[in-house]
Amino acid sequence: MKISKAVIPAAGFGTRFLPFTKAVPKELVPVVDTPTIQYVVEEAVAAGIEDILIIVSTGKGAIQDHFNPVYELEQRLEASGKNKELECVRRISSLARIQYTYQQELLGLGHAVLQAEAFVGSAPFAILLGDTVTTSESKPVTAQLCAAYEKTSSPVVALETVPEEKVSRYGVIGGSEESPGLYRVSEFVEKPSPEEAPSNLAVASRYVFTPEIFTYLKKTPRGKGGEIQITDAMKLMLADHPMYGWRINGRRHDIGNKLEFVKSTVEFALKRDDLRDDLIEFLRDLMEK
Ligand code: G1P
Repeated sequence: MKISKAVIPAAGFGTRFLPFTKAVPKELVPVVDTPTIQYVVEEAVAAGIEDILIIVSTGKGAIQDHFNPVYELEQRLEASGKNKELECVRRISSLARIQYTYQQELLGLGHAVLQAEAFVGSAPFAILLGDTVTTSESKPVTAQLCAAYEKTSSPVVALETVPEEKVSRYGVIGGSEESPGLYRVSEFVEKPSPEEAPSNLAVASRYVFTPEIFTYLKKTPRGKGGEIQITDAMKLMLADHPMYGWRINGRRHDIGNKLEFVKSTVEFALKRDDLRDDLIEFLRDLMEK
């Protein structure tokens, strides 16, 4: 079954990126000149997804503003012959059919996803965390997960190998590698200590689920941090359904982390023809000093 819907949770406060996130949603932190969540929507679209639900909360109105057309701006750009800029802003509002729903109380990622039940209906769907960009030399990461779903007809989570001392920041799996990169999951643990962790394979911000996940989310008690964790719902689901992990070809850029944000900005800028040469020169001068 083709995956045509995606859910993007974007309701959290973004406390890791204060003071910027006091007034601006963390999902709008730019990498070079493009907000994080636009890369996320583009990644979903690149996987053939046409319908997107963004889960927001109070104070996140600027996300809607970013994807809505601004006719006055378009007219102004047209009148002044700024065709490249005009094309750029028009493209944003025609990327996908985007809807929004509110998470009234911020009770965790699992609770945020629960708000998507009516939108999802009866088909499998993808989840892409709104504060994380991915890059890949091959297929975009969500398209890789959709391909893994087609192969297994079961829920699949993106995996990334992380250093042992960092496992406590992530959901971690235990399991066996059935074919290169594809793991049959036997265990999910949210933010384990290095001693408790069944492996160093961390859940990496992208998921493909079947709608059964909602049944388990409704049964999930509050877990780590007093929040309803998606990892705990996956753990319950695992008792009744086969579940898989796909070790992604590519990388996750957690833009909510300040160092990752700076590194990603430099990395993305170095790939841009309009910025590369001047940036290299600047970085060389800086290093010499
Ligand atoms: C969430 C999930 C965690 C996952 C991480 C990165 O944690 O709960 O399982 O590994 O995203 O995708 P958070 O970063 O919101 O604390």
